[in-house]
Amino acid sequence: MKKLQKIPYHIAIIMDGNGRWATKRGLPRNYGHKEGINAIERIVLACLNFDIKYCSFFAFSTENWKRSSDEINGIFDLIREYLLKEDNIFLKNQIKVESIGVLEPFPKDLVEALVDLKEKTKNFNKLTVVFALNYGGRDDIVRAVNKFLNENKKDITEKEFLLALDTKDIPEPDIVLRTSGEMRISNFMLYQMAYSELFFPKIYWPDFNEKHLYKILKKYQKRNRRFGGIK
Ligand code: FPP
Repeated sequence: MKKLQKIPYHIAIIMDGNGRWATKRGLPRNYGHKEGINAIERIVLACLNFDIKYCSFFAFSTENWKRSSDEINGIFDLIREYLLKEDNIFLKNQIKVESIGVLEPFPKDLVEALVDLKEKTKNFNKLTVVFALNYGGRDDIVRAVNKFLNENKKDITEKEFLLALDTKDIPEPDIVLRTSGEMRISNFMLYQMAYSELFFPKIYWPDFNEKHLYKILKKYQKRNRRFGGIK
């Protein structure tokens, strides 16, 4: 793979197509989520390789609670197992782990595993991986507004608003990509993606790999980002 000139600082990923990947193979949906975790591993390592500094994964949305309890518990089991893995790629590769979203409704041991991994990796700076868990863009915005209301703050600026969001320590995404060919944002970082470049590769998430990401990065080189100005 040829060296790229313009590397995005932050890519945010809507991992879609796990269920369809499994159904196509006559497997239960959670097999798709299991393969989805392997894709996360591949893409995290690819980000290190491409020198991308932030990578966010939409792992569980505020709307995903509508799924069957079997599927939800299956996803929790996978996340728990993944976060508790002793030889995890985060510690091995000096990757900082962060999360956005409201963690309270998750099982206590899962939250503890996540908090522990965040603590252990907090001084790493090669790459930051952000897991969006029980995250919704609208919920993020409404919680920020309520913070200001509770503090009796008026006339806030866009900068102050950005700093009240869950992503306060995370730059706005340069790229938002959603796999599986669906062209929707589905309540991901709504405020933060005002000027993100959007990509919708027609590949189910469990099949997504470094080559697919490279193709997107190559297309990104050609995008002329104007941020509302003229260039
Ligand atoms: C979308 O596919 C995928 C999800 C809603 C869940 C993905 C979650 C994981 C892989 C767990 C990873 C989390 C961490 C923190 C390691 P879908 O089920 O909507 O697919 P479909 O549209 O084909 O049904």
